[in-house]
Amino acid sequence: MIKLVGKQQFNIYYKFLKHAKSPIHGDGLFALAPIEPDQMIIEYTGEKVRHEVANFRERKYENQGLFSSYMFRLDDDWVIDATKMGNLARFINHCCQPNCTARIISRNGVKRIFIFSKTYIEKGEELTYDYKFPLEDNKIRCHCGAKFCRNFLN
Ligand SMILES: C[S@@+](CC[C@H](N)C(=O)[O-])C[C@H]1O[C@@H](n2cnc3c(N)ncnc32)[C@H](O)[C@@H]1O
Ligand SMILES: [Zn+2]
Repeated sequence: MIKLVGKQQFNIYYKFLKHAKSPIHGDGLFALAPIEPDQMIIEYTGEKVRHEVANFRERKYENQGLFSSYMFRLDDDWVIDATKMGNLARFINHCCQPNCTARIISRNGVKRIFIFSKTYIEKGEELTYDYKFPLEDNKIRCHCGAKFCRNFLN
C-alpha cells in the first residue's frame, strides 16, 4: 500500500499509474497499487494558454476529428492545454462520484493543478475526478456508471 509524505510523492506515484482502455471512455488512468485517501497523485501538466487561445484550439481540434477535450480551466484567464504537452493525468476520465479530486494550488503566485485521492483506491481501480464542467446546451453524455450519475458532463 502506498502512503507517502513529502516532495517525492508525485514522482513515486507516477510509477504506479498506467493508462489503458476504460469502460467509461477511450483510455483512462488506473492505479497499479492501492492508494490511501488524500494523497497527491499526479500533477495535471500541459501548456498554459489564455481562454481565447484554448477556445480557438478546441474548435481546431474538433475540426481535426479530436472530440476528447484535454483543456483544464485554471482560472478566469488561463487554461492548461494537455492535448500535445500533457502527462498521464490527461487520461483521467470524469465520474459523478469520483475517487479523486482536482485541486488548484498556488505557490509564489504560480497556480498548478494536482490530482488527489479522495477515497481509498484499490489496485486496478480507474482514477476519476469530477470535471465540474459548466452547464451548456451542447450536452456531452456521461458514461461514468455511478449510481448517482448526472447523465451529462456539462
Ligand atoms: C481528458 S480526456 C480523458 C481521457 C480520454 N478518455 C481519452 O481517451 O483520451 C476528456 C474527454 O474524455 C471523455 N470523457 C471523460 N469522462 C467521460 C465520461 N464520464 N463520460 C463520457 N465521456 C467522458 C470526454 O470526451 C472528455 O472530453
Ligand atoms: Zn456520470
